Amino acid sequence: MLSSRLLLLSSFFSLLQADETILGVYIFHRHGDRTSKSFAPTTLTDLGYCQVYGSGEFYRNRYIDANASSPIYGISSSVVKNSQLSVEAPVDTVLQNSAAGFLQGLYPPVGATLGTQLLANGTRVEAPLGGFQLIPVNAVASASSAANSENSAWLQGQSGCANAIISSNAYFYSQEYMNKLNSTMSFYQSILPVISGTFTNATDTFKNAYSIYDLIHVSTIHNSSASIPSDNLLTNETLFQLQTLADNHEFNLAFNSSEPIRAIAGSTLAAQIVQQLNSTIVGKSKSQVSLQFGAYASFLSFFGLAQLPQVSENFTGICDYASSMTFELVTNATVSNTSYPSNDQISIRFLFSNGTASENPLTAYPLFGQNETVIPWTTFVDEMDNFAIGDQATWCSQCGNSTGVCASTAASTSSGSSASSTSSPTSSSGGISKAVAGVIGAMVTLAVILGLEAIVMLIGGLRLVSKKRLSGGNVTPETVAPVKA
Ligand SMILES: *[C@@H]1O[C@H](CO)[C@@H](O)[C@H](O)[C@H]1NC(C)=O
Ligand SMILES: *[C@@H]1O[C@H](CO)[C@@H](O)[C@H](O)[C@H]1NC(C)=O
Ligand SMILES: *[C@@H]1O[C@H](CO)[C@@H](O)[C@H](O)[C@H]1NC(C)=O
Ligand SMILES: *[C@@H]1O[C@H](CO)[C@@H](O)[C@H](O)[C@H]1NC(C)=O
Ligand SMILES: *[C@@H]1O[C@H](CO)[C@@H](O)[C@H](O)[C@H]1NC(C)=O
Ligand SMILES: *[C@@H]1O[C@H](CO)[C@@H](O)[C@H](O)[C@H]1NC(C)=O
Ligand SMILES: *[C@@H]1O[C@H](CO)[C@@H](O)[C@H](O)[C@H]1NC(C)=O
Ligand SMILES: *[C@@H]1O[C@H](CO)[C@@H](O)[C@H](O)[C@H]1NC(C)=O
Ligand SMILES: *[C@@H]1O[C@H](CO)[C@@H](O)[C@H](O)[C@H]1NC(C)=O
Ligand SMILES: *[C@@H]1O[C@H](CO)[C@@H](O)[C@H](O)[C@H]1NC(C)=O
Ligand SMILES: *[C@@H]1O[C@H](CO)[C@@H](O)[C@H](O)[C@H]1NC(C)=O
Ligand SMILES: *[C@@H]1O[C@H](CO)[C@@H](O)[C@H](O)[C@H]1NC(C)=O
Repeated sequence: MLSSRLLLLSSFFSLLQADETILGVYIFHRHGDRTSKSFAPTTLTDLGYCQVYGSGEFYRNRYIDANASSPIYGISSSVVKNSQLSVEAPVDTVLQNSAAGFLQGLYPPVGATLGTQLLANGTRVEAPLGGFQLIPVNAVASASSAANSENSAWLQGQSGCANAIISSNAYFYSQEYMNKLNSTMSFYQSILPVISGTFTNATDTFKNAYSIYDLIHVSTIHNSSASIPSDNLLTNETLFQLQTLADNHEFNLAFNSSEPIRAIAGSTLAAQIVQQLNSTIVGKSKSQVSLQFGAYASFLSFFGLAQLPQVSENFTGICDYASSMTFELVTNATVSNTSYPSNDQISIRFLFSNGTASENPLTAYPLFGQNETVIPWTTFVDEMDNFAIGDQATWCSQCGNSTGVCASTAASTSSGSSASSTSSPTSSSGGISKAVAGVIGAMVTLAVILGLEAIVMLIGGLRLVSKKRLSGGNVTPETVAPVKA
């Protein structure tokens, strides 16, 4: 009942967007299913390949295809124009391969007709694999030289940001951590028989909450139950507990409202998002699709900075494999060869899919504690600027690094380097307890839904008729993805 109502709502929603033009998108994507981090090198599995490929297909149907539900202005629909795409992933087999798999879904082989070129001497050459399209995946260009990869258990070390490492490590000395470590001691001991091949009595504690969860989570997907020692210990309740503890552990390492530098991964990502979307606008949608593949920790850091935990406590949990968050540049102004909207006519919509978008609904959420899911571009830039770190000098001073790549910038910024990390853009949210924030989040979400419904009542009906006429009665809702089990 409720889901069919939501489905109806989302189909009306797609009609409401009929006048909107998407000028460009930025998609940040998690890798698909992979092998456990306990056994390096970590690799993308066939299941993971399918997940990212499915997500690529989903975004193709939304943005790229000739009859896409929300086509991107000026995008090439079949044969890829590499100038329209910017794809980045850290140099690692899980994330690089996830990007490649996604791109196969986004721009599949074009077949013999389109995939053939004519040479000067009259010979026709067909691209291999039925017109397979080659799309480069670039190494992530972040403010620091190091970028997160999937080969290490905890990713902060790879950020190379001294103050972030110090801040994350401080969590291990917090009372909250000590209490969790103590209160979960016997829980972890109880599952030792399952993981004793990899963990010892000493390492089987909350300190390794993520690594333990990861090993068991991967095993429940890939190992036959007979091959998991003491498999009977892994009840649903225990699995849920392992996941919840890992969520708690990782969120605390990735974000702290009173120490924003801990979320350095989210800060550098924020700068990249603004820079890329801005270049889409400045270039009048000549380059309109930006994609970056990265780790769950970057999601968590960004979620914290963007105040998404106020919308739902779900945003403090590790997102599922092949999750994606998407920033759409949208406008209601006329877009054509001769007229491109000005900055104040452009807005941003934020969407998130928890798991591959082919199976999990891509849902809009309000950023920065606002109550609208579509906000003006200028507001978006101002809010992101509160925590974005996009240039080497700022990165070096905020991170307190003065050697290596920071040696040249150290001289000019050394005076303010340690004090600068104390400014807290999110401190206003620090006083709200999780429970209260959850209630507020639920109410905001409800208000958004109710408000939306009211708009649907007012204008939805008219649009329904016109769209039906236009498309010959073939109204296809854009979010018919099955609800995740
Ligand atoms: C339009 O989409 C439908 C499925 O959604 C597909 O079967 C059809 O081939 C598409 N048409 C074009 C021209 O791409
Ligand atoms: C045409 O040129 C291509 C590439 O140089 C060559 O492989 C092919 O044999 C040529 N065809 C003819 C008919 O000369
Ligand atoms: C920043 O400083 C930390 C701690 O000294 C160091 O581990 C890290 O490699 C430095 N990062 C860079 C990019 O130089
Ligand atoms: C755990 O906490 C209890 C009381 O809260 C304390 O008595 C006990 O010594 C603690 N155990 C460890 C291992 O710290
Ligand atoms: C495992 O560690 C716990 C807590 O450190 C301790 O109480 C227990 O005796 C140890 N068990 C074994 C078999 O060493
Ligand atoms: C799952 O299988 C792999 C090898 O196939 C093994 O290394 C791993 O220990 C197994 N996981 C568990 C929890 O037994
Ligand atoms: C455990 O969860 C799985 C799927 O999540 C479900 O199929 C199964 O019925 C659950 N088992 C119990 C005992 O609840
Ligand atoms: C967008 O790019 C233009 C040209 O490079 C620059 O002048 C402007 O400051 C940028 N705006 C933002 C919000 O980054
Ligand atoms: C949070 O997650 C639960 C369970 O997956 C889901 O039912 C709920 O709709 C989610 N809340 C939001 C705001 O997405
Ligand atoms: C995504 O799903 C996981 C459960 O698999 C949950 O723990 C997490 O909170 C969810 N995240 C969001 C943002 O819904
Ligand atoms: C476009 O207009 C619709 C209907 O008036 C509105 O809901 C939507 O938010 C507008 N979009 C933008 C980007 O202003
Ligand atoms: C939410 O929307 C209402 C009505 O548009 C507005 O009055 C209120 O200030 C908004 N709240 C926030 C936090 O933006």
